[in-house]
Amino acid sequence: EQIITVAIDGPAAAGKSTVAKMIANQLGFIYVDTGAMYRALTYQSLQEGVDPKNEERVLTILMNSIIELKQTENGQRVFVNNKDVSEEIRYPDVTSQVSFVAQHPSIRKEMVSRQQKLANNRSVVMDGRDIGTHVLPDAEVKIFLVASVEERAKRRHEENIKKGIPSDIQSLKKEISDRDQIDSNREVSPLIKAKDAIEVDTTSLSITEVKDQILQEISKYN
Ligand code: C5P
Repeated sequence: EQIITVAIDGPAAAGKSTVAKMIANQLGFIYVDTGAMYRALTYQSLQEGVDPKNEERVLTILMNSIIELKQTENGQRVFVNNKDVSEEIRYPDVTSQVSFVAQHPSIRKEMVSRQQKLANNRSVVMDGRDIGTHVLPDAEVKIFLVASVEERAKRRHEENIKKGIPSDIQSLKKEISDRDQIDSNREVSPLIKAKDAIEVDTTSLSITEVKDQILQEISKYN
């Protein structure tokens, strides 16, 4: 059977995981949320009282942690050392620190290697910041999703309200642009569009429109 890999990158809260999940479901591909892996490591570091900026100590935690993305009846869940941390990794303390964990070269090297193993020999949809540039440089389909900060904050806000999570648009806007700033300016594999990626501006598109556009690209390889 033919193997197809799909890389979806872009700034924070651009809708990457929503469409990636839908596409993976529809096509029966594995979905790998690489941001969840960096978040899980950040969670574990904070849990152990380690400063996310301390590369050596964070690396020690990574090397001693089993981070798993598991398919369960409640959808894909994230586990660190067998503990389900799917909710905790979305909390503001993790979100505000994750980009510091993700800027360390040794952490990225190990994460990229784990992510490549997850994609080995299977059809995957993977989302993140460096998938098209570093993790899956030979991906058949590379998508770079963008949207205005206002729109991204608004969508995240509505999502929070729906889930009953306290939410404030102004702080969301700040959190999103702070994270983009760090992710785009780090020295190792910064957030950048791969040369051969297709940029899709989702500001005025519905989820279905974005999904269909990506499926259209994938169908060229089927
Ligand atoms: O995708 P998500 O917003 O959950 O990612 C959280 C953070 O993890 C990003 O802001 C970024 O710092 C880091 N990340 C990364 N490379 C990836 C995926 C996520 O640096 N491939």
